Amino acid sequence: MNISVPKEIKILENRVAIVPETAAKLVKAGFVVRVERGAGEKAFFADSDYTKAGAEIVADAAALFAGADLLVKVGVPTPEEIVKMKQGSVFAGFLNPLAQPELSASLASRNITAFSMELIPRTSRAQSMDALSSQASIAGYKAVLIAAAELGKYFPMLTTAAGTVPPAKVLVIGVGVAGLQAIATARRLGAAVEAFDIRPEVKEQVQSLGAKFVEARVDTAGASAEGGYAKEVSEDTKKKLQEALADRVAASDIVITTAQVPGKKAPVLVTRAMVERMRAGSVVVDLA
Ligand code: NAI
Repeated sequence: MNISVPKEIKILENRVAIVPETAAKLVKAGFVVRVERGAGEKAFFADSDYTKAGAEIVADAAALFAGADLLVKVGVPTPEEIVKMKQGSVFAGFLNPLAQPELSASLASRNITAFSMELIPRTSRAQSMDALSSQASIAGYKAVLIAAAELGKYFPMLTTAAGTVPPAKVLVIGVGVAGLQAIATARRLGAAVEAFDIRPEVKEQVQSLGAKFVEARVDTAGASAEGGYAKEVSEDTKKKLQEALADRVAASDIVITTAQVPGKKAPVLVTRAMVERMRAGSVVVDLA
């Protein structure tokens, strides 16, 4: 059986589904690993790194797809990529099946068995395969670095002979994996951090990172679903949340939004009116 890795085609997609280190392990386990020429380039892995690992480089993308027994990808496959896949083969990668069910249907119509990496159950046993958590953690970290670079002032409080500069104020909305990492990163840089989530149980986690939990005084009982995810809240509750957050948003130098509800469009928590109340030069980073 072969495991085949195409080059990602989406603009700004620098990742590759299998790195040389993993390719070597798969080859050792008896698989044939085929990698499209240049697939690892943007992640700084040369074709020669893959050949050293025992993988085969395939120059022609169409041939790679057509001959793949198990195709592994990072980005959600496009309809054009799906028609190139072999009938009856297996696919593993992000698939976004709740928002783009037509892709799963198209794979099914070609008799392709597909594994959607974002639907791996969140259990300790499956943690090493949890593609969402690893990427969310990176996103939360990077969101803060981007915001810090864009903000025209310091993150930490600085006391100098010339006086004291107060710390930047960061508000994180949505405290899942990305939000927690954003809070931790902003704290490490020295900002004063506040955070909010509709799941009341995250208050302790926020406080454990040295941030303040924003009490919205809105009834969010029942907002937690199985597996630690959030449920969608009513329009009325969303409105009340926006009102409760408006003053906190206006007082912040940086707002990072990460709030998501699995399978639904991300809730709009920061409105135009709220942004208009923010100081000029403030930064909003929306991950959701
Ligand atoms: P997510 O990416 O689905 O959503 C981000 C956050 O937004 C969540 O905390 C959610 O409660 C919040 N949110 C949704 N609607 C909101 C609203 N209207 N206002 C404010 N906040 C809102 O969340 P993620 O990162 O997938 O984490 C969900 C939970 O799963 C967390 O408790 C996390 O610790 C847990 N988890 C457990 C794992 C494991 O046991 N292996 C692995 C990964 C996450």
